[in-house]
Amino acid sequence: MAALGRPGYINLGHAQDLAYDYEGDAMEQRAHLVLDAAWASGVRYFDAARSYGLGEKFLATWLNSRGVSLDSITVGSKWGYTYTADWRIEAKAHEVKEHSLATLERQWPESLALLDGYLRLYQIHSATAESGVLENQLVLQELAKLKSEGIRIGLTLSGPSQSETLRSAMEIEIDGSRLFDSVQATWNLLEPSVGPVLAEAHAAGIGVIIKEALANGRLTDRNQEPDFASKLEVLQTESRDLGTSTDALVLAACLSQPFVDVVLSGAASLEQILSNAQACRVRLDQDILARLLRLAESPSVYWTTRSKLAWN
Ligand SMILES: NC(=O)c1ccc[n+]([C@@H]2O[C@H](COP(=O)([O-])OP(=O)(O)OC[C@H]3O[C@@H](n4cnc5c(N)ncnc54)[C@H](OP(=O)(O)O)[C@@H]3O)[C@@H](O)[C@H]2O)c1
Repeated sequence: MAALGRPGYINLGHAQDLAYDYEGDAMEQRAHLVLDAAWASGVRYFDAARSYGLGEKFLATWLNSRGVSLDSITVGSKWGYTYTADWRIEAKAHEVKEHSLATLERQWPESLALLDGYLRLYQIHSATAESGVLENQLVLQELAKLKSEGIRIGLTLSGPSQSETLRSAMEIEIDGSRLFDSVQATWNLLEPSVGPVLAEAHAAGIGVIIKEALANGRLTDRNQEPDFASKLEVLQTESRDLGTSTDALVLAACLSQPFVDVVLSGAASLEQILSNAQACRVRLDQDILARLLRLAESPSVYWTTRSKLAWN
């Protein structure tokens, strides 16, 4: 829901995707159109956050208007960032991070009010060592309380220290039981470095959700940066040979990783979700995968580039 719930996002061509139409009702209808197509394509996990503008609300109005039964899908949301862009494309701050008990206690009832019954997974949004959230006993105890009420508890990762943060999270136990049921991490053909730790998490029974599989749109035909041209050519040649789209090939590479349970689509339009969904039908052999995995860049280059993506 990150690209569907608010006018401004950090992907490459958000304004074109939204046809420069940021009016609330138009954005809600666009979100519903994309969600209808996702549903028809077989998508059954939906990912939201308190900070995705009206993302949770748009998802809730779609679920209710389509009469989606409670047990046919899973909704995950996140707490820890507050949306502050006030429906603008340019803002001093688009979202503000605070991993405190007060934020959790405020945001959980807000998420629940919109998504009660559907909401099965609640995630710490972008846990890092700096935010201190994995050492905040009050927060961890509160999450354990939600878990005891049947809500799965997850964390999402970002930045060059994803592996270290995940290792710390996997150690956390409350009253003798592991706290975290799932992790949402960035793994893609440019930045696969967290793979080995995700494999450990998966083997330990932690659900693995992949985000930013298209590197925020950088791993698509839309990326016309001269530095990316040779990599784009590899992707386009392989996808042409397989009779699929560039983005479906890249998503299929994520789906083919043995440690992956769910790969998120960040589609912002009908065309994109239909193209993304082709990934489920693409089978990659080991030779193709090996060629694709050569596209990786160093984590520091990747995260520096990502930090420079402009909100648009
Ligand atoms: N936990 C976290 O901190 C966190 C962070 C990021 C995302 N997420 C979650 O992960 C989801 C996906 O993340 P993401 O949006 O960064 O994913 P992504 O898959 O890396 O990028 C999605 C973007 O790729 C572009 N794209 C998709 N299909 C395309 C196509 N066929 N042709 C050209 N461009 C195409 C679109 O951007 P443009 O058209 O604008 O270029 C789209 O918005 C989010 O919705 C959110 O739920 C979580």
